[in-house]
Amino acid sequence: MSQSYRINSFDEYKEAYQKSIDNPEQFWGEIAENFTWRKKWDKVLEWNFTEPKVEWFKGGKLNITENCIDRHLETMGEKPAFIWEPNHPEERVRVVTYNRLHKRVCQFAQVLKNNGVKKGDRVCIYMGMVPELTYAVLGCARIGAIHSVIFGGFSAQSIADRLDDAQAEFIVTCDGAFRGDKVIPLKSVIDDALIGNKTIKKVIVYTRTRTPVSMIKGRDVWWEDEMEFAEHQVEKDGVVSFPAEEMDAEDPLFILYTSGSTGKPKGVVHSSAGYMLWTNYTFNNVFQYKQGQVHFCTADIGWITGHSYIVYGPLSAGATSLMFEGIPTYPDAGRFWDIVQKHKVNILYTAPTAIRSLMGFGLAPLQGKDLSSLQVLGTVGEPINEEAWHWYNENVGKKNCPIVDTWWQTETGACMISNMAGVTPAKPSWATLPMPGVQPILVDDKGYEVTEKDENGMLKGNLCIKAPWPAILRTTYGDHERCRTNYFATYPGLYFTGDGAIKDENGFYRITGRVDDVLNVSGHRIGTAEVENAINMHAGVVESAVVGYPHDVKGQGIYAFVIDNNTHSDDELTRKDILQTVTRIIGPIAKPDKIQFVKGLPKTRSGKIMRRILRKIAEGELENLGDITTLLDPNVVEDIKNGAL
Ligand code: PRX
Repeated sequence: MSQSYRINSFDEYKEAYQKSIDNPEQFWGEIAENFTWRKKWDKVLEWNFTEPKVEWFKGGKLNITENCIDRHLETMGEKPAFIWEPNHPEERVRVVTYNRLHKRVCQFAQVLKNNGVKKGDRVCIYMGMVPELTYAVLGCARIGAIHSVIFGGFSAQSIADRLDDAQAEFIVTCDGAFRGDKVIPLKSVIDDALIGNKTIKKVIVYTRTRTPVSMIKGRDVWWEDEMEFAEHQVEKDGVVSFPAEEMDAEDPLFILYTSGSTGKPKGVVHSSAGYMLWTNYTFNNVFQYKQGQVHFCTADIGWITGHSYIVYGPLSAGATSLMFEGIPTYPDAGRFWDIVQKHKVNILYTAPTAIRSLMGFGLAPLQGKDLSSLQVLGTVGEPINEEAWHWYNENVGKKNCPIVDTWWQTETGACMISNMAGVTPAKPSWATLPMPGVQPILVDDKGYEVTEKDENGMLKGNLCIKAPWPAILRTTYGDHERCRTNYFATYPGLYFTGDGAIKDENGFYRITGRVDDVLNVSGHRIGTAEVENAINMHAGVVESAVVGYPHDVKGQGIYAFVIDNNTHSDDELTRKDILQTVTRIIGPIAKPDKIQFVKGLPKTRSGKIMRRILRKIAEGELENLGDITTLLDPNVVEDIKNGAL
């Protein structure tokens, strides 16, 4: 391993950071030497943020699965790659060694090939958290197909939109998924999503819950049958092989849909080499992973956190990644602690919303649980409030474990601003310092760098990044212009994150939340426009406006102001109908927490909704609404205030 690869002290961090800025090509070129390449790159980096165009390791050839699996086989073949903890605690734990993972991924790559999947084809994966999901993801990567994993909580309509946008031809799914005491009928949701679909050729169905499913002749096939057949093809005389497709460094690896402030979710595209390097580098350095440790990231693989810190980051580092099928409160609120004890988890990486929700159960679920294996804790997905930070530190980490507060996004691929466990300083509720290669800048609304400190000595502004890091998104699928306007046009020459941040005298950053019309509900990104569109689909709704408000557990709650056509007689029933509509159109995660029926919305003369006013009302701040004289009809504000929930 090259020296700059592993950061062991604050001084080493400072040195690495400086080097990464002074000479990024040399810095990342050295780090890239730590991977398996079929052919070395011609040029480390070429970029401009105008088009935008970013190319890392151009001309290099590799396959990410050879880096995540094959290269570990000789020395670590019998070491666990995954430990799988099922939803039901009594069910058998599954341990997938690197050898076994290799076999299953080769088999599934063969299944894909047998079913006509080729390099560059889009494969949608809609499964619960079972090991087979990782075989599907890695099987795609092995043959160079582009995977698009969709979180199991999205509705048929959301899936249909994503299938259409990606022009996907293949789906891998399960009959159903266990989540706590519920069974989610995944295949049936897929069947609904496929009504009217013209691109899907094959659906591969893995049996998990034995939920009855309809299997359409010629289109739907069983995972188990396909895998059995493929086994004979990939295994000869006890030797398993399925040659990995040679990929260009810049070939797309996957699409992951995420919400923005306008329109439908966009397909963020990540490339092979840069993403691999960045997830691996941040995994090793942020968590300070040491061989043999058990890493437990509680996210779902349907989100970027699961992609980067359950699958690609840990596997590329030869780590043991714990994958959990269930939820933190099933069968009771001590489940995470049971898992930590049972599997001697060393690193626990979760979301502030999970911590806050577990805090609500008090300390009883922690009692008698042996958490002494824990060495590092992490949080991701939303700002962590100090109270939750201290609770985590005292009751889970027993004040013995550094906590890393990792700020990043679907678009950034992996951690961008975070302390490194025990190596760089932590500060409660601050993400602290940028990773090597990350150059944050705070700008005002006109795009000028903020240089004046506020009364607390802080710089405050919109968070942008000045130059590319290896896993910056390359495009939004099928619509590069959308990528440009969303991320690179607000402040020309900069990547705009959509977040606000403050910076202290030590150069530490604290992320304060989104400054655009994107909500962060329980660590999940939801666009207000998306929720409004869904509400507006409901018969009787004339118009709606959605804003976020502070929520004790979820971080933000969804507050909807709805104008209806005044024909309904029962508010409560209509609310339920609207919730049902949102569930149908997007999924249960986007259901508003509060729905207030109003007669009008505060609009300017040009017809723009003044969300600032609605946000204040949703926050319970009914006085000091600011200047409302520019409104077309200032009287609506009084009305809305009177009906505030
Ligand atoms: O607002 C920031 C918040 O989550 C957004 C990204 O959401 P998503 O793409 O779904 O990825 C979540 C997992 C990486 C960011 O724009 N966010 C993420 N991590 C933090 C955070 N806010 C504050 N502190 C964090 N550590």
